[in-house]
This record gives sequence, C-alpha cells and structure tokens, in this order.
Amino acid sequence: MEAKLTAIGIFAPEKVIDNHYFEKIVDTNDEWIRSRTGIITRHYAGEDEFTSDLAQKAIENMAAEYHLQLDDVDFILVATVTHDQIMPSMACQLQYRLNMPKAAALDISAACGGFAYGLVLAKGLINSGMYRKILVVGAETLSKVTDFTDRTSCILFGDGAGVVLIEAAEKGNIGASVAGADGSGGQDLYLSTQNTWINGEEIKANNKIVQNGRKVFKWAVSQMALQFNILLEKEGLSVEDIDWFVPHSANMRIIEAICKQVGLPIEKTLESLSTYGNTSSASIPLALYEGLRAGKVKKGDRVMMLGFGGGLTYAGAIVQWA
Ligand code: ACO
Repeated sequence: MEAKLTAIGIFAPEKVIDNHYFEKIVDTNDEWIRSRTGIITRHYAGEDEFTSDLAQKAIENMAAEYHLQLDDVDFILVATVTHDQIMPSMACQLQYRLNMPKAAALDISAACGGFAYGLVLAKGLINSGMYRKILVVGAETLSKVTDFTDRTSCILFGDGAGVVLIEAAEKGNIGASVAGADGSGGQDLYLSTQNTWINGEEIKANNKIVQNGRKVFKWAVSQMALQFNILLEKEGLSVEDIDWFVPHSANMRIIEAICKQVGLPIEKTLESLSTYGNTSSASIPLALYEGLRAGKVKKGDRVMMLGFGGGLTYAGAIVQWA
C-alpha cells in the first residue's frame, strides 16, 4: 500500500504577541527581531490552555473542514516537546478525547524535526501494510518553556498546532523521504527538567529552552541544503521541479540561506514564522495550511517539507498535492 496525505488542519491560540511586547522585558526592539528573524507576531496559549488542547482543536478543525470520521483512525503520532505531562502521552490523551478506540498512540520526541519525522513514520507504517489511517500531529506551547530573561531566544517562540491525515491508497502522494540525527549537537539546543549532562557538558535544569543560536543556525543551513539535494536525487527531480518548499520556520535568514545554497527562488517557500513565530513541530503544517488557504498550493504541486531541530534531528519528504 502507498501513503496518501489527504487532509490538514491547524489551530493557534487567540492571544497575539507583537515584537514590542519584548521591548518591556529585555533589551531588544522590533527592528532587530524583524530583520534578524523575520518574526512579526506569535500566538501564546492562555494559562489554562495546554498543548493537548491546541492539538485537539487542530484535529477538530480538520475533521469539520473535510467532513471526516475519526473513529477508524488506527494510529496517532504526536510530535511535541511541550507535553502537558510526560505520562500519559499527548497521543493517548487525544485518542481518548476524540474517541479513536482503534488507534495506537505514540508521542515523537524530535523537537522541531518532529512533524516531519511523523510523516516519515506514517509513510513507513502504511507501506508495511500494518496501518491504514494515521494522524500526524505537531503541537506546542513553547511560551510555557520560554526563558523570558534570554533576549536571544525569548523573541523566537510561539504556540500552535497542526495535523495531517495520512491514509493507505493504491496510488499515494508521499514520495521520497529522509530522516536522521546528529546527537553530537545535543548540547546546542535543549530543554531539561533535571540537572544532568549532554555529551559531557553540564546542564542546569530550568525547564526552559536553551540554545546556542549561532551553532544551530550554521548546522541548520548546511544540513537542510544537503537533505534538500538528497531528497531531489532520491525522487529523480531537479530543483525546478519543486513547486513549494516548506522548511521548519525557525528563522527567515536560515530559509534564505538554504534557498541560496540549493538555487531555489525564495518565492517558492512557505513559512509560518512571520505570523506564528517558531512553533517547533507545528511550524510546517501551519505554513502548509496557510499556503493552501492563500491559494498558492494547487493540485499536482510538488511540495518538499523539511524539518530540523533539537537532538539534533532532521527529516523530510516530498508530497505531490492531491
Ligand atoms: N535583541 C537585540 N540584540 C540581540 C538580541 C535581541 N533579541 N538577541 C541577540 N542580540 C545581540 C547579541 O547579543 C549579539 O550582540 P554582540 O554582537 O554584542 O554579542 C548580536 O545581537 C548578534 O547576535 P547573534 O547571536 O550573532 O545573532 P544572530 O543574527 O545569529 O541571531 C538568532 C540570533 C535569532 C537566535 C539566530 O542565531 C537563530 O535564529 N538561530 C537559530 C535558532 C533556531 O533555529 N533554533 C532551532 C529551532 S528551536 C527548537 O528546536 C525548539
């Protein structure tokens, strides 16, 4: 059986935070944030609004828009680094709340690469013949783990959720895929609840995202450009065959640098960071949905999704929009 992406839904909390918000908290300004990151606004969840709530609403929105029944979903994969709690998993919470009694349920821990990892896993599970109808969710409330004393990172993050439905079909639309990791960069981007070590480096627990922005930036550009070309080669395509590139929306300058390296016009990218900030595992479905809503992505278009994030991780796939 082949894997077909058949539906998509998103949700973002109501509260919108603009760049001026940070001028009162840290030494920064709107101009610096816009020019160094491309971020203009982001959404923050309320105090009593959690990742599972955002994910639930994204799934409900998709079900309403596509008139879907979900009771025969047989696997739910949830990519997140901001679980409501470690146990039970977000996937189990959603399986119960949305009444999917036949669904196996599993969270994916691959940070901003998580949604793309989910796509690759869903494709494999369907190709194997073991499963037929899979939800892949990327959902985050990063505002709850943002260090508001660190001006280099607090300006970046936002909250949101996205979901796609992947189904078994005679003729699928998910083509070549990649997934990988580089654990040697683990200490460059982490979120820890314990005083511990990563690669021999001491880590202080504060349950906040800590990153070495410059290192992640450099790694992301070279690794994403490499994986972009590997995906093209696997699918027997050239760069001109890609209609839309949907990389993880971390920083507009990262996206521009990748495009320059692979020779793709920047106009062919879809991003969610200007409106939603860096929403980690939710950023790719948010960008794709907005691209669809704006009438950019059309039937038959070849869309390359490519995620990267803490771990360090990366994953991606080429989908021909159906
Ligand atoms: N406002 C004003 N000045 C700032 C700010 C700010 N918010 N943040 C940093 N600066 C200053 C720095 O202190 C530095 O000053 P100095 O030269 O006096 O030391 C100067 O600006 C330049 O700092 P850089 O770190 O070189 O800034 P850069 O242009 O690299 O931008 C950023 C920083 C936005 C963090 C960038 O490196 C980045 O986006 N990195 C990648 C982030 C990312 O992709 N994370 C991965 C995903 S997140 C996840 O997986 C959950």
